[in-house]
Amino acid sequence: MTDKIPYFDLPAQIRSVRKDLDAVIAKTLDNTSFCLGPDTAQFEKDFAKYCGAEHCVGFNSGTSALHIALMLLNVGPGDEVISTPMTFVATSWAISYVGAQPVYVDIDDATFNLDPNLIEKAITPRTKAIMPVHLYGHPFDIDPILAICRKHKLPLVEDAAQAHGAKYKGKTIGTFGESSCFSFYPGKNLGACGEGGALVTNNGAYAARARALREHGSTVRYYHDEVGFNYRMEGIQGAVLGVKLKHLDKWTTERRRVAKRYTELLADTPLQLPRQADWAETVWHLYVVRHPKRDDLKKHLEANGVGCALHYPVPLHLQKCYASLGYKGGDFPVAEKAAAQCLSLPMYAELTDAQIQRVAEVVKDFFKK
Ligand SMILES: Cc1ncc(COP(=O)(O)O)c(C=O)c1O
Repeated sequence: MTDKIPYFDLPAQIRSVRKDLDAVIAKTLDNTSFCLGPDTAQFEKDFAKYCGAEHCVGFNSGTSALHIALMLLNVGPGDEVISTPMTFVATSWAISYVGAQPVYVDIDDATFNLDPNLIEKAITPRTKAIMPVHLYGHPFDIDPILAICRKHKLPLVEDAAQAHGAKYKGKTIGTFGESSCFSFYPGKNLGACGEGGALVTNNGAYAARARALREHGSTVRYYHDEVGFNYRMEGIQGAVLGVKLKHLDKWTTERRRVAKRYTELLADTPLQLPRQADWAETVWHLYVVRHPKRDDLKKHLEANGVGCALHYPVPLHLQKCYASLGYKGGDFPVAEKAAAQCLSLPMYAELTDAQIQRVAEVVKDFFKK
């Protein structure tokens, strides 16, 4: 019996940095800076530099960062935000949290990202922002979206939760919009040992307000200028992320190796394979293949010890929680097809060539039947 290949091997990643994690966690236990603190401040500096941005504000999750990103733009009740139906639901939570309404636009079949050609039709006088996602680590097509933003005087917020270090036309994503938001959920390319997120921006006033909002709306203790939140990053997470950030580029290189190998080995299967656009340097958060018999293929992989997952089985316009928006099946056919056919294969830096070959063999086996 061959060993199982997990869909994601977090224990292997943690083992590879365990000594350094133990040391920084022990240091935090000694200095007891559990909320924000010096390690979080240092990580904010390091991550801003990594993104080529002036400011990074640490949060307790990517969802919180996205919420604050829309508050910084004063988006509120009655407003609309254009976004993608093919994403993790938290992208839309941010819109709902400020009392605004998500307005979805279909995706581009090749990249799974918001289709720039469809955005203008969705703009109304109530539109207050455009918030696409760099899905699966692949940048969205930023230039045409920025051109629309400029034409209609709309701010852009990048949901960069899955795309730490990805590049668009040679430049690291994260500073194209007014702000961008990252998640450090443990399964992300850069993950905390718990929850974490960040808002990155070149706008000093936004950064200052974001810092206040994450800390109960205050800059001076017990004086609260506006209603705020407890959205602080924990000190231990700042310390952990500081350690892991040093490994991120190396891990991304390994993810690229894995993706290249899958693409070689699966080229002659009936699967629709993910592709990298000419202008993109994806960081392969996920390697998502598509096939009409996705559910059977998933069962076959699992029965043969290969982990896999669905990102995402139901597009947001068809989620129960958004039924009141009035969308129906058929409104966004490209996203609906992607949701029905997508399958995420194991993708992480530690995957060995033998494991990749095994995944490919099991996939090929399915099509031989
Ligand atoms: C695209 C996207 N946006 C937002 C989030 C929310 O991030 P978090 O889980 O850190 O709140 C996630 C991840 O979970 C995500 O994948």
